[in-house]
Amino acid sequence: MKIVFSVGGSLVCPEEIDIRFIERFCSLLKQLSLKHKIAVVVGGGRLARKYIQAARKFTRSRDMLDYFGIKATYLNAMLLSAALGNKAEYVWNASKPDLRTRKIVVTGGTTPGHSTDAVAAEIAVMMKADLLVNASNIKGVYEEDPRKNPKARLLKKITAKELSAIISKLPQTPGKYALIDKLAVNTIKKHKIKTLILDGRNLGNLKKAVEGKRFTGTIIN
Ligand code: UTP
Repeated sequence: MKIVFSVGGSLVCPEEIDIRFIERFCSLLKQLSLKHKIAVVVGGGRLARKYIQAARKFTRSRDMLDYFGIKATYLNAMLLSAALGNKAEYVWNASKPDLRTRKIVVTGGTTPGHSTDAVAAEIAVMMKADLLVNASNIKGVYEEDPRKNPKARLLKKITAKELSAIISKLPQTPGKYALIDKLAVNTIKKHKIKTLILDGRNLGNLKKAVEGKRFTGTIIN
């Protein structure tokens, strides 16, 4: 299979850099790469939000705020790539030829106006991926915001159209593309990319999801 992972920076850098997560995740990636072609897009996490928050004091340029976020994604992606050693190839703004390598492609953000989820969806199109896995620190898509309603149900399966309706009510601003960004969902919808949204901190669950076994999270198709 060809698999693209969109890894939330919230996993790599929740408050401080999570070395333990990076080690465990990279070990799983290496294992999966023996059977599958893999690309990983890494988000900016806390680092992005810190810089965006500080920069808001000095600028109202949305593009500039996004660039601060993009730079943070580079750092997280390079760190993950370093942890993968010679199994990885860090690329900046991946194009089709970059994706032909046998190594695990690791990259971050590209241009302002969206999040790394949209980059991952675009890479999935370029690679003709079988699966896009969106791993962050939430269990999946809920029928309602679980912070507001702790009894909200986790949705096991929804269509990209239903997901569009859910995220239309959520913030889409620099540093805060809640759940998944609109552009990513449009790409998933247009190209019919099978997508899973799950909590990447549970690597056993993530492995099951990739292997097509029962897992906790949401399937978009
Ligand atoms: P992300 O929003 O992708 O990181 O990038 P994250 O918050 O770690 O991701 P998730 O939501 O947990 O998956 C951080 C910020 O960098 C800018 C945006 O402002 C984004 O919120 N960015 C990132 C871009 O403008 N373009 C990109 O291609 C990527």
